[in-house]
Amino acid sequence: MKKIVKLFLPVLLILVINEQTFAQESLYKRLGGYDAVAAVTDDFITRLATHKDLSRFFTGASDDTKKRIRQHIVDFLCNGAGGPCAYIGRTMKDAHKGLKISENDWKITAGLLVETLNKFMVPQKEQNELLAIVSSLKKDIVEVN
Ligand code: HEM
Repeated sequence: MKKIVKLFLPVLLILVINEQTFAQESLYKRLGGYDAVAAVTDDFITRLATHKDLSRFFTGASDDTKKRIRQHIVDFLCNGAGGPCAYIGRTMKDAHKGLKISENDWKITAGLLVETLNKFMVPQKEQNELLAIVSSLKKDIVEVN
């Protein structure tokens, strides 16, 4: 029995040390927490809403409606990045259905998000992780070619 403990103790120690060394903080934490996610969202949606080809999607929305959309996007990204926020908005499919967002709109949007992430000097690894989350939504947001 003692021999077995002696044999497995080093293995156990290595496993514990590895876990501590390689356990990764959530993307949310690595991005800098809530304030950083909110700042990224604000910059990103300002770019979206003021882009010549995309601003039409937001015309006619009241200030309060824009505030609500903004808060939903903060919560959505916070939640998706492993943060403590709850997302209580609509599904991506329902929220964007009928807007006729095109492939080209999507391409522009992805570029604007990268501009935002570069502005905040988000490291490449975290950029890739956030872009992977956003890219997974494309099928629910883009409706037309
Ligand atoms: C081509 C790109 C996009 C355009 C033009 C766009 C446009 C819009 C518009 C106009 C609304 C308001 C809809 C309404 O209340 O009637 C909206 C809502 C929303 N969008 Fe987008 N969107 C785009 C991409 C994205 C992306 C990439 C995300 C994810 C980060 C996102 C997340 C949301 C959320 C969370 C809401 C609020 C849902 C709710 O009110 O329940 N959108 N979007």
